Amino acid sequence: ETPVIVAIDGPSGTGKSSTSKAVAERTGFGYLDTGAQYRAMTWWMLGNGVDIADPAAVAAVADKPVIVSGTDPMAPTITVDGTDVSLPIRGRAVTEAVSAVSAVPEVRALITELQRSIAAHAEAGIVVEGRDIGTTVLPGADVKIFLTASPAVRAARRSAELTGQEAAGVAATQAALARRDAADSGRKASPLAKADDAVEVDTSELTLPQVIECVVTLIEARK
Ligand code: C5P
Repeated sequence: ETPVIVAIDGPSGTGKSSTSKAVAERTGFGYLDTGAQYRAMTWWMLGNGVDIADPAAVAAVADKPVIVSGTDPMAPTITVDGTDVSLPIRGRAVTEAVSAVSAVPEVRALITELQRSIAAHAEAGIVVEGRDIGTTVLPGADVKIFLTASPAVRAARRSAELTGQEAAGVAATQAALARRDAADSGRKASPLAKADDAVEVDTSELTLPQVIECVVTLIEARK
């Protein structure tokens, strides 16, 4: 039996990660956070002194780090060369650098291959969250969702997530999100985009349980 593939795309602050993890738990499917893979690649580039403003320099070493993603939605793990990088990849340094690294075609080719292989080895099914899953990575996905939310709602959600030294005002967070969106949507290599056959869900006025219910219903309707 072939695994059920669920693609959940959209910009950050739309509830993508919380929704994807919860849907995977409810359905018994695996979970893959593809943003974490781009963040892990970026963490390695920064740690190895690679000039991330130089796409050729990034491309030249993109095959060096060994990135391994766990697919348990209760405890998603990510390692680079055996080191657990779950925490450092959420820091500001990586967040500010990741769009430049993820725009490099060689980086995308390597990580896309990794994602396809993980999806192909899923058992019952897998929920894959990202920016280009429904359009490029897994265009044959059984269910495709594109999550959106208003810029103000997204900024408020992101600010609430950031703590301690990473904390910033809602206005600064909204500006940083807008910069990352523009870079992710404007790049040449598989930009953030809604697939023609994806179901768009605007989460601005919905609670997390409502969004989860909506996605689970779409998965069940599909079977
Ligand atoms: O989802 P998250 O905010 O962790 O993603 C971090 C970054 O990784 C995005 O801003 C984008 O540059 C990149 N990304 C991507 N394609 C994906 C997932 C993430 O380019 N499928």
